[in-house]
Amino acid sequence: MNNIRVNINDALGAVSEKAIESMASEVRESVNTLMEGTGAGNDFLGWVRLPVDTPDALLDDINATAERLRTECEVVVVIGIGGSYLGAKAVLEALGNPFSVYDNALKPQIVFAGHNIGEDYLYELQSYLKGKKFGIIVISKSGTTTEPAIAFRLLKAQLEEAEGREAAARHIVAVTDAKRGALRTLADEEGYTTYVIEDSVGGRFSVLSPVGLLPIAVGGYDIKALMEGARERQKAILSGADKSAEVYATTRNALYRSGKKIEILVNYNPRLHYFAEWWKQLYGESEGKDHRGIFPAAVDFSTDLHSMGQWIQDGERTIFETVISVENVDHEVRIPTDEANLDGLNFLAGKRVDEVNKMAELGTRLAHVDGGVPNILITIDSICERTLGSLIYFFEASCGISGYLLGVNPFNQPGVEAYKRNMFALLAKPGYEEETAAIRERVR
Ligand code: PA5
Repeated sequence: MNNIRVNINDALGAVSEKAIESMASEVRESVNTLMEGTGAGNDFLGWVRLPVDTPDALLDDINATAERLRTECEVVVVIGIGGSYLGAKAVLEALGNPFSVYDNALKPQIVFAGHNIGEDYLYELQSYLKGKKFGIIVISKSGTTTEPAIAFRLLKAQLEEAEGREAAARHIVAVTDAKRGALRTLADEEGYTTYVIEDSVGGRFSVLSPVGLLPIAVGGYDIKALMEGARERQKAILSGADKSAEVYATTRNALYRSGKKIEILVNYNPRLHYFAEWWKQLYGESEGKDHRGIFPAAVDFSTDLHSMGQWIQDGERTIFETVISVENVDHEVRIPTDEANLDGLNFLAGKRVDEVNKMAELGTRLAHVDGGVPNILITIDSICERTLGSLIYFFEASCGISGYLLGVNPFNQPGVEAYKRNMFALLAKPGYEEETAAIRERVR
């Protein structure tokens, strides 16, 4: 259970240990509110016990469906937005080889759609799929979200045209509400294989449900190990044996209260880029409300040291960093000796690339702390299914605790409706007649 360690020593310059200790009773209350389900949004706590409550039979069933798609499809398109795609994308990218997309022998390729309204994106995707055997996993809890609905309408029509309606239905899997929504109705009518997103599991907390598990299994990864990691973390946190989630939640809130309004999640491993995107949604949508909340940002180092490094080192001192440090990488690459040594790199000859990366990490952390950027260090043993499951649960639990510490309902997202109302009014959606007239007047 030692695959995640949280170290707050380098945050203690900005907030004293005393300040953190003084939050102890508040933290206890937030933890109890979450665990006992007595707080705002308590009808969305299904994720808390999801790892332990998920039966192996469901994982076997998901694996069987994934195997069917893997065998019968060259490409599988995962359609979804927000919590309905980011978790799967994060895990697939973390476990995958970034160059496999160029390897036509590797099947199936997994591509995403419905997470934007890019006409060129959809045109190019449709062109790419022409003549290929493809399947669709369409994921929408509400079943009515515009972006995935448009993508699904297009790709379903393309698949049906290519294979016929009946055969197409075999290659479409829907993950949606048990009873409600347009997608549920269609899936039942067409006889698609379906998986349920429980009412009590919100989108951004759903990666450990079929929402994330099915695409991850299609990628050929071990969803049982992923869930095992999450189960271990769930048991440790819920029993009180593991305080790491509390420590992270408390420290980031103490920093926020001291004026550090922006948290930058830092990785030194390009595999974690989308993990940070998932984290941004988890914390941004959970905490940014009532005109409060830490702004979650993310950078990939050392890449972004050449773009954002200057700002972080020297810009406004309203930021703190949370570094995800990966102890062990999977492969070994050593830097060769070069006789001419024109680049002057022979002092690194024989060293592993990861050793250089680790020194970049340490050097940067020290420089940023010296420059007034407090640092929370989260060390993980490696990037594998078990650790990712554990890390996902760790961040979800911290997020719930942190939201209650902040004094918001971490499980709703009323703010995301505003753009939808305007968009529907501008597009003259039936039922929006008054808003359409008003908005047209405004933008005339
Ligand atoms: O976390 C959330 O609830 C949201 O980000 C949703 O996941 C996102 O809006 C997609 O919703 P749906 O799955 O209903 O299409």
